[in-house]
Amino acid sequence: MNTRRKFLQSFAALGALPLLSFMPNLKKRQKKYTEGLVVSTWNFGVKANTAAVKIMNDGGNALDMVTAGAMEMESDPTELTIGLGGLPDREGHTTLDACVMDSIGRAGSVCFLEKIKHPVAVARAIMEKSPHVVLVGDGAQQFALQNGFPKDEYQNPEAQKAYREWLEKSEYKPIINIENHDTIGILAMDKKGDLSGACTTSGLSYKMRGRVGDSPIIGAGLYVDNEVGAATASGLGETILRSCSSFLMVELMRQGYSPLNACKEAIQRLVKINSFMNIGDYQACFIAVSKEGEIGAYSVHPGFTYSVWKNGEHQVLTAGSLLS
Ligand code: GLY
Repeated sequence: MNTRRKFLQSFAALGALPLLSFMPNLKKRQKKYTEGLVVSTWNFGVKANTAAVKIMNDGGNALDMVTAGAMEMESDPTELTIGLGGLPDREGHTTLDACVMDSIGRAGSVCFLEKIKHPVAVARAIMEKSPHVVLVGDGAQQFALQNGFPKDEYQNPEAQKAYREWLEKSEYKPIINIENHDTIGILAMDKKGDLSGACTTSGLSYKMRGRVGDSPIIGAGLYVDNEVGAATASGLGETILRSCSSFLMVELMRQGYSPLNACKEAIQRLVKINSFMNIGDYQACFIAVSKEGEIGAYSVHPGFTYSVWKNGEHQVLTAGSLLS
């Protein structure tokens, strides 16, 4: 028998064994939380959370909750950072990024999508109806049209006006809002205690054509592990991409970090990895939820707000930050 076949046979025999974990100090999970909760980036997340709670009360699961919440934000034609109302790239085109991840480890993502109102629903359709995780650009649009998403030529007059003003200087400096919102990242736990997450954005304004940020990248802008917790991000995507922040936060929670400490550690790691940049030139903001229903949030600069629905109440909270 050749060596390769022998190897494959012994590998198959391993299938009968339970998977071994070599990670030290794994946290013993406490009782999972089953009252339902939603947490979203920024103060505008209250709108998303309200839509998510409505779906939960109608019998929806965590995936339905985050999809509904993200779609609510994409439906606002005046929103300058999410959906078709978002500020365009340097060539005047609004391009959209989104993703979802559910409680059984499935993920779907769409990048550089144009003229489709609900990128998060397309990301979910990619997850549920295709063998892939990520579709981009024309291919993503083709998939959307073939799956019943209509083409939408909407342009936000306010975004177009801002773009015309920007064109006068055409200065490109990737400044992400520090005291204001950009991406919506939304994490939900349903009444079974299952977790899902979604993220949707029009990305950095006046970005180079084809630029994709962290928001649709599984592990960077969003990560969910139903055994441990979920995390999502907002801020300058390039900094978050370099540090795989959402995956890191979930792995830190697996090791026993609280969601708040996972966010803090991930912010410190991000700042270290991006230390070649001027820290004044970017903001990064994280939220995380543990399987036990604890919530944490943290950012590089002050001003990051996040919205929570828990125990039947909506709250807008201000996260702590590394810098003051
Ligand atoms: N976090 C959104 C972006 O950088 O595109």
